Amino acid sequence: MKEKVEVIKTSLDSDLNSVTSLNDLGQLKAKYLGKKGLVTLLTSNMKDLSIEERKEVGKIANEIREEVNSKLTNKEEELKNKELNDKLEKESIDISLPSKKIKRGSRHPFNRIVEDVEDFFVSMGYDVVDGPELETDENCFRLLNLPDGHPARDTQDTFYIDEEYLLRTQTSSVQAREMQANKEKTPIRMICPGKVYRRDEDATHSHQFGQVEGLVIDKNISLADLKGTLELFAKKMLGENTKVRFRPSYFPFTEPSVEVDVSCFKCGGKGCSLCKQTGWIEVLGAGMVHPNVLRMGGYDPEVWTGFAFGTGLDRFAMFRYAIPDIRYLYTNDIRFLEQFDRKDEENEIK
Ligand code: PHE
Repeated sequence: MKEKVEVIKTSLDSDLNSVTSLNDLGQLKAKYLGKKGLVTLLTSNMKDLSIEERKEVGKIANEIREEVNSKLTNKEEELKNKELNDKLEKESIDISLPSKKIKRGSRHPFNRIVEDVEDFFVSMGYDVVDGPELETDENCFRLLNLPDGHPARDTQDTFYIDEEYLLRTQTSSVQAREMQANKEKTPIRMICPGKVYRRDEDATHSHQFGQVEGLVIDKNISLADLKGTLELFAKKMLGENTKVRFRPSYFPFTEPSVEVDVSCFKCGGKGCSLCKQTGWIEVLGAGMVHPNVLRMGGYDPEVWTGFAFGTGLDRFAMFRYAIPDIRYLYTNDIRFLEQFDRKDEENEIK
């Protein structure tokens, strides 16, 4: 019996030395401890032994079973660790590899201008309102004192959808909407930034562009109020030293009408290529709300007065960011948009 045990021990030691995988270890387990395993077989002839002998053999068998078991468990542990280490070594992360760049979005230059315009007018107590781009002829023209056949309609290059519907050519349509919506005929102070459409396209004109409309209706509003408002607005958008001048003009929905120039912010008014040597840049159309427009909107022109203005938003973006072609603002080319990351925001002309 003792000899058998010694044989098992030596054979187990040599088996354990040569085993390299958990799979092989499973087979060893069966070889020693399985139903027909070497250790199990030690006690196969128990029934032929005397009680004394059984005790003796049982004791030895248990000891060797325990020893084999613990050696196998140790080996199993060892192999598992080795497997894990091998895996970790193989899967090691190379921290010197450059990482993938995460693309950050940034605010579109057009939206930055819109937000600045909104901030300014909200601080002056205006509401920011919205209107549809698919508009009626009524709101876009007739209620603004541009009846059918009016020659000034020609200047607007309209995209008509059918007899009555069109793509609005100017945010002035929202003037008409606001006056009608205001049933109580209380004072109005609103701006409406939005997209407008005209059949026109080159480096400075796009078939789609942005405008912001402003409308104030109250009692005793004068041209001086308009001028003061637009002066502050121009300084906010183009810098503190900006000067503003009014030139007489014509719009069917305002009387008197003016065109508004700002002193050239590139040369400070001395004359350069941007202002075509005049020192001034035209940015805005405005005027006192025409009595016909007030009347059609339900306001008595004997009681109510008002001013309106409209300006292109794209030009402000082009000026501020030195964008040479208006179409860059709408083609959503990522190479263009990427130039406006957060750093640029700090460098904006304010
Ligand atoms: N709607 C005019 C345009 O598109 C601008 C304007 C608005 C002029 C309001 C006067 C008053 O050119």
